[in-house]
Order: sequence, then C-alpha cells, then structure tokens
Amino acid sequence: MPAHPRPSIRPGCPNFASGPCAKRPGWSPTALSDAPLGRSHRAKIGKDKLKRVIEETKALLELPDRYLAGIIAGSDTGAVETALWSLLGPRPVDVFAWESFGRDWVTDCVKQLKPLEARSFVADFGQLPDLSQADPDHDIVFTWNGTTSGVIVPDAGWIRDDRRGLTLCDATSSAFAVKMPWSKLDVVTFSWQKVLGGEGQHGMLVLSPRAVERLETHKPAWPLPKIFRLTRDGKLNRGIFEGETINTPSMLCVEDALDAMAWARSIGGAAGLAGRTRENYGTLAAWVERTPWIDFLAVDPASRSPTSVCLKIVDPAFAALSRDDQAAFCKRLTGLLEKEGVAYDIGSYRDAPAGLRIWCGATVEAADVRALTAWLDWAYAVCTTEKSAA
Ligand SMILES: Cc1ncc(COP(=O)(O)O)c(C=O)c1O
Repeated sequence: MPAHPRPSIRPGCPNFASGPCAKRPGWSPTALSDAPLGRSHRAKIGKDKLKRVIEETKALLELPDRYLAGIIAGSDTGAVETALWSLLGPRPVDVFAWESFGRDWVTDCVKQLKPLEARSFVADFGQLPDLSQADPDHDIVFTWNGTTSGVIVPDAGWIRDDRRGLTLCDATSSAFAVKMPWSKLDVVTFSWQKVLGGEGQHGMLVLSPRAVERLETHKPAWPLPKIFRLTRDGKLNRGIFEGETINTPSMLCVEDALDAMAWARSIGGAAGLAGRTRENYGTLAAWVERTPWIDFLAVDPASRSPTSVCLKIVDPAFAALSRDDQAAFCKRLTGLLEKEGVAYDIGSYRDAPAGLRIWCGATVEAADVRALTAWLDWAYAVCTTEKSAA
C-alpha cells in the first residue's frame, strides 16, 4: 500500500491560478447575457452599467463617502501607471517592493519618471522591506499584497495619519479579500480579475480627496499620454468617476464585473468575501502546518498572504538540488496535477523561487482546497519516488 494512495475526491474546480482567478461558483457564460453588446458605451444603457460598477465597487469596499472610484484601461497595470504618471513629482517618493510587480513600480519611479527624486526599498522574496523607513513628507508607493511572494502588509501602523505625502497602493490581490484601511490610503488600484474572479482588461482607480487635490494642483514634468489623463484644464475629469471611460471599455467585461459583484453581495458583501478567503487560507494553512516537506515562503507569519499563498519545499533532499533541478521538480509536480485535472497554474511565478502558489481568494471553494491538499501529498510522493527510483 503506497504511503499516499491516489485520492478519490477531486476539486470541483481545479482553477487555483493567482490571476485570472477562478470564476465565482456557478458562473457560466449565460451570466453575460444582459451585456449591451454592439451598443455605444456612451449610450444610456452602457453608461448606466459603467456607473453601476463604480457604485457597487464603492459599496462592496465600504469606501469613505468622499473617495472616488473610476474605471481605467489596462487592468491593474493601467491603473497603477495612470496614478504614478499623473500624481508623482512634487515630492520625493519612497517606493517599497518585495516581489515582481512591486519591482516594476520601482523601475517606473527610479528609471522612467524623470526628474523624480526616488528612494527604493526592496526586499527579497518572502521578506518585507523596512516599512518604517517611509518618510511622511514623501509620497509612498507600495503593493499591499505581493502576489508573487505571498507576502502581505500586516497593518498600516507605519503610515502616518498626519503625513504630507500621498500613499499610492497597488491592492490588486488584496482588495475585496481583506479590509483596507482607507484613511491611510490616498490612491488604490486593483483589477476585476483577482478576488472577484472577473475578467482582465480594466483597472479600478480609487482616489482620496487629497489625491484629487494633488491632481488639481500639480502638472507633471513629463508628457502624459491621453490614456493616463485624469484632468482637463487643471480640473479633475469627474466623468471618469461616474462611468465615462477615457476610451472604449469592453461591455462584456463590465457585465461580468457586475455579475461578480452581485454574487459578492449575495454572500454578504465585504464580510462574505473576506470570510471565504479566510476559510480557504485556513484550510491550506492547516495542511502546510501538518506537512513536513512544505512551508510558507513568507518568513514572518504576520505577513502571510491569505490570497496568493506562496509555498516553498523544505525537504532537505530538495534543498540539495541545483536551482534548475528544483525548478524541474516543481514543473513535474505541477504538471502531474495538471494532467490529472485537479490543479491548474499552481507553479510559482516565473521569477520567484521554485515552489507552489495557490490562490485562496473568495471565488475558490474551501472544499476544493481541501481536496487539492490530498492530491498535493499524492503528487509529491509520486515525484519523490520517481526521483529515487531513477
Ligand atoms: C501585485 C500586482 N500588481 C499588478 C499586477 C498586474 O495586473 P494586471 O495584469 O491586471 O494589470 C498583478 C498581476 O498579477 C499583481 O499581482
């Protein structure tokens, strides 16, 4: 009898990718049948839908009344770039990064946006940089949840209430999954394709009153492509925050976002989304705790992401392998699970250490995470047996 017999229960949905993430339970293309396709997004029917996305977003995120939310082109990346290009300049910027996407924002601040006085604080995968270095007189750019390292900011205590600079936060893999401390955040971006299980293509940009004030008093030193322009004649283009997108949106993606948010409402809104995320994470974390060959990539337990859970193999036999052999082993492991149809896209991100990354956001079912853990045990046993037999 093998130590890990082949499991008999399969996850109902094998989609554990960290973006695009699993669609909501029960989703099918019929959810999109009300999309006003072939109609202008500027017609009432289209504009009403776009406006509803904004209103539903504000309600689900429990945004303070005076905060604005707008739909931007280019998914989360588009929203981040719009914010960086439009807002940075008048103050030095402190940019913090601890995984792949945050490092892209460091590149923007340090290499692309000139002249900009920028300090960067970059930590290795699994760690957080020293956030206490943030100067409250500077603007601060950071990612709330590092999707490719599974490291999340534990709290916002390091952001001063009396700061003079703005905080610009890429929250794409934490918005809707964890409570965001809005009073500490001036600019927040995310997409529909993560916790909501929506489609890529559009990003959301949230602005505090202080961010709006910056937009209306600051003219960037660099040229601004049309797609990034949030102001007109020095005034905020408020239409963007009422459903008038800068360019043509996909009404199919918009319909899907509305469907995702209707589902979110039906499970209890913000609390429901956070609760499902916590349950999924708890299920996976319990397996990690009892499994000797695996551990979290996040070194500090307080910084373990509940959405993009990144795991490393800590078996000494694995640690003794070369980096290439470690990567090949993980590829075999994830390939076997994919072939079995029980887990797709759970390899670590391309520039992260070899390991696993398993999405535990709200659209995933806890029973599927539980079923997956038995398959992980089985696949690991198969791969290690193969290796020792070779
Ligand atoms: C933290 C973070 N920022 C930005 C992105 C880019 O998102 P998008 O492809 O939606 O632009 C991702 C995608 O995974 C991410 O995890």
